[in-house]
Amino acid sequence: MQQEALQEIHSATTLDALQTVKTKYVGKSGLITKELGSLGKLPPEERRARGAEINAVRSALDAALKEREDTLKRAALDARLASEAIDVTLPGLQLPSGGLHLISRILNDLEGIYERMGYTVIEGQEVEDDAYNFDALNIPWYHPARDLWDTFWLEDGRLLRTHTSPMQVRYMLEHSAPLKIVVPGKVYRYEATDATHESMFHQLEGLVVGDNISMADLKGTIAEMARGLFGASAKVRFQPSYYPFTEPGADFSVWWENPRGESKWLELGGCGMVHQNVFKAVDDLREAAGKERIYEGKTGFAFGLGPERIAMLKYGIPDIRYFYANDLRVLEQFRGELG
Ligand code: DAH
Repeated sequence: MQQEALQEIHSATTLDALQTVKTKYVGKSGLITKELGSLGKLPPEERRARGAEINAVRSALDAALKEREDTLKRAALDARLASEAIDVTLPGLQLPSGGLHLISRILNDLEGIYERMGYTVIEGQEVEDDAYNFDALNIPWYHPARDLWDTFWLEDGRLLRTHTSPMQVRYMLEHSAPLKIVVPGKVYRYEATDATHESMFHQLEGLVVGDNISMADLKGTIAEMARGLFGASAKVRFQPSYYPFTEPGADFSVWWENPRGESKWLELGGCGMVHQNVFKAVDDLREAAGKERIYEGKTGFAFGLGPERIAMLKYGIPDIRYFYANDLRVLEQFRGELG
């Protein structure tokens, strides 16, 4: 039986199989255990020798079981380590990287176009004071044009800027003419959302102030921007319009044949010559801050446009709400390189 048991122990190739052999021989009702149990039936003179013999077998099996168990455990560990080993020649994991949002890229493009024309890019604050968002822009509290900008008011009397135009005033308070700036940023409108209205969107504001600045300079600038955005064949058109902070005021449209072969006049933004009341309001604020009055009598033009609208025209995006719904099926189509 010892020979057989040792044979079985050595042929067990798994810990489970070894456990079966162990139970078979030295378990509670194993063969060796039974032999020990039957010692009592032997005559006393045989019992001692027989007992010693069985115990010797049992020790031999215990030792063999222990050794085999150690061997199998070590083999299992070796196999696990081998499977965990790092193959340094494997190609690395391809981690998906993010990209710039379409609107960020359009703003970057616009900034590039204006920087090449010598403009400085500045940013402003999204929480504004009534004084800058409206009053200094020739929109006093009783002016009906305030209704053009549905406003999110804050509890402390301030507001979320409804356009980037207040930065015209803030910039002129701190800087003297001549100046050329563009201001990209978020603006907010308290209104029902639909395919062409969102409560948050972006604008790019432009302001040029100096001596003898004319409407011709404004037109040339907008035309240059349109060619930068849509290619050399893009044309621009101006139609009279009204903004309290411009005189005269205009809306401008671009004509551009898109890749789908369509072309029509598409309105992109508002513009005009800076109203003298804006220069006067700036000088009043400067004077109150102990600074020189330097703007009355100057000339300048300003414009404001929406990058969402440019993106919708350029790529045929039918609904402004797609930009901020975080639907990757939309965003990934327009994912630009980082940086
Ligand atoms: N601030 C205007 C708006 O949000 C856009 C605009 C129109 C800006 C004419 C200008 C301008 O600077 O001259 O509707």
